[in-house]
Amino acid sequence: MLNRRQFLTLSAMGGITFVAGQKNISFAEARKEEKMAYSAKDYSKLLGMEGFSETLLKNHFTLYQGYVTNTNKLVDNLAPMLKEGKMGAPEYAELKRRFGWEFNGMRLHELYFENLGGKGGIEKTGKLARKMAEDCGSYEEWEKDFKGAGAMRGIGWIVLYQDIQSGKLFNCWVNEHDVGHLAGCIPILIMDVFEHAFMIDYGLKRADYIAAFFKNIDWKAAEGRLK
Ligand SMILES: [Fe+2]
Repeated sequence: MLNRRQFLTLSAMGGITFVAGQKNISFAEARKEEKMAYSAKDYSKLLGMEGFSETLLKNHFTLYQGYVTNTNKLVDNLAPMLKEGKMGAPEYAELKRRFGWEFNGMRLHELYFENLGGKGGIEKTGKLARKMAEDCGSYEEWEKDFKGAGAMRGIGWIVLYQDIQSGKLFNCWVNEHDVGHLAGCIPILIMDVFEHAFMIDYGLKRADYIAAFFKNIDWKAAEGRLK
């Protein structure tokens, strides 16, 4: 017996009508029934983090919740359009394009909040630090590159990726939420460099925010993502 999630995954892969009990259920109908596919996670344990005011963090949590809401809305709105055969409509195309932006806005915030809340620096003899040294020469060289990318002008994310094919690490700039991701690579450490992530506390002093971010990295969480 398939659970709902497995059913939706299989039907999405096949794009065909499945029989559930006595009733034929199309992919579009199944998705329509799948309300609130995603729920906002609670990151209130981060309140009180050094260098991050309560106002900034609460605003950031609210903004994140908006991405979750919009991801669900897009899932819900696209399903009936598919059922009604509106794939050629401009609205369908725009919602399809929008989906990656909202979904990544949701997921990147989750990865970001989940690699915060730590205390102390990286364990220099740990797996991640050793990998950084192997790929970048030293942890310090890796940090210089990550911080340098973070100081770039513009809004987006800095993502330390691991390419699972070569095992290599790359620090990447992701523009907004959707441009610059490395296909098939694993996000190891995420830093939000949208202005909302720091301006309430630091104004234009982005480097001070980056320093505060580094003081609060949960290195165990980041290392746990490494393959
Ligand atoms: Fe953000």
